[in-house]
Amino acid sequence: MPNKKIILSGMRPTGKLHLGHWTGALENWVALQNDGGYSNYHLIADYHVLTTNLDSSHIYEYSIEMILDWLAAGIDPMRSPIFRQSQVKEHSELHLIFSMLITQPRLERNPTLKEQIRDLNLGPISYGYLGYPVLQAADILLYKGEVVPVGEDQLSHVEITREIARDFNRQYGEVFPEPKAMLGKFARLPGLDGRKMSKSLNNAILLSDSPDEVKKKMKKAVTDPQKIRKGDPGRPDICLVFMYHQKFDAAQVQEIRRGCESGQLGCVDCKMKAADSVNEFLAPFGERRKRYEGNEAEVRKILKDGEDRARTAAQKTMAEVHQAMKIG
Ligand code: TRP
Repeated sequence: MPNKKIILSGMRPTGKLHLGHWTGALENWVALQNDGGYSNYHLIADYHVLTTNLDSSHIYEYSIEMILDWLAAGIDPMRSPIFRQSQVKEHSELHLIFSMLITQPRLERNPTLKEQIRDLNLGPISYGYLGYPVLQAADILLYKGEVVPVGEDQLSHVEITREIARDFNRQYGEVFPEPKAMLGKFARLPGLDGRKMSKSLNNAILLSDSPDEVKKKMKKAVTDPQKIRKGDPGRPDICLVFMYHQKFDAAQVQEIRRGCESGQLGCVDCKMKAADSVNEFLAPFGERRKRYEGNEAEVRKILKDGEDRARTAAQKTMAEVHQAMKIG
């Protein structure tokens, strides 16, 4: 659409999403979609999964689960195409071209990669894993993405995308914009044990959790260890549950702070209030989810439509690439 800034956002399909995905990315996607000034593409990075896990047997199923969560969160597939990287072949082609424009030491310097190698204790990594940001650059630039809403860990990848865009343009002529990363307003929401929220750590509230599940999980949340029983004064600023109040219960947050600090509000009641707020927040997700859940045909139709639209845009860019390079 003319004059609308192009946004390219993406996630690897890892199955059901949680509140950390909402605060870290999805919330921003929905706000940008509803702003009206942007044209959004939502990419499912299914080939990127293979960089860290060669088992491809769950990729399709996880993609469908993730789309359900996107739709439940308010992504509107009519306005914003949803598509899989694997189904638009131009991603692979542009990735190949870009792979010539970046050196091995530059990719080895990528701090996100270094962190993963350290945290996951990885041995030698594959050629494809080293090139993770090159494929991501192709994802973004294929649609001439100008804005990329991401979490902090992805800033280094967007920086590599900018360098590749500059280098391509310098070598072959002006085809690509230099995209900018956009960080969300709210820092990461930790899991219920205070660590990074993650399904595998069993500390996550899923966007698809029922109200009872939310209550059950919230009951186990860690609180200020010095506040042992009701009556003890608590320290909301170091309390995890208070973060949930700040995020999901803005109207009551001052009252909760006073109650906690004075000791009048016990942790059990405080957690139940937090669960209620989260449930209230998630209620419209459940409403929207009902339309699609158990209706895989409908989800497949959304994907097919998104992939057709993405492919049309991608083919247009590749024609420009071929022309600039004087090949084809
Ligand atoms: N690397 C991103 C992540 O792990 C996922 C991703 C792949 C992406 N391609 C993208 C994000 C393009 C933004 C734009 O979260």
